[in-house]
Amino acid sequence: MKRIKLHDKEFVLAIDAGTIEREIARVAEEINRDLAGERPLFLGVLNGAFMFVSDLLKSVTVEGTEVSFVKVASYAGTSSTGQVKDLIALNEDVTGRTVVIVEDMVDSGRSIVHLKKMLEERHAGKIVVAAMFYKPKAIVQELTLDYTCIALENDFVVGRGLDYDGLGRNLPDLYQVVS
Ligand code: IMP
Ligand code: MG
Repeated sequence: MKRIKLHDKEFVLAIDAGTIEREIARVAEEINRDLAGERPLFLGVLNGAFMFVSDLLKSVTVEGTEVSFVKVASYAGTSSTGQVKDLIALNEDVTGRTVVIVEDMVDSGRSIVHLKKMLEERHAGKIVVAAMFYKPKAIVQELTLDYTCIALENDFVVGRGLDYDGLGRNLPDLYQVVS
């Protein structure tokens, strides 16, 4: 079993890159089918979503696709702070547009709720969510995830864009903490 160490913690392989890439390709096909003709703006949530945005968008063929990013933070170490801070704001006009929020991970759901509210205040048209990973047992907010690749248990994970205090984002596989 592949094991790695980041800072003070050990992690073990949870999901290999090939499995993740297959699920991303499936979600891209769903998006191609559902959003045809909508000229969607994909809004990546930095830092964690950089790799998912890159992988997903390579398979999205919807005409008029655009990409932008916002940056929010809600995690410190291995747990959520319960607060969402805006670090880089949105600078596109989203009035009437279909916006796809692209998240690496939905945990409590607070970041998504926060971003949906921001987009509604700016009068976006249809707002949908694409999440690479989500933790169904951790979601505390009422919310709909329109596109999801892989459901996880509540363990803390790294890789594929997700970090432990800055480390592990570049790993192509997903690792879970050994407790
Ligand atoms: P939420 O607002 O609680 O849904 O948290 C979402 C954000 O927290 C994600 O976009 C990640 O950046 C971060 N996060 C949640 N769970 C993990 C994890 O297991 N490992 C690393 N980061 C995580
Ligand atoms: Mg994130």
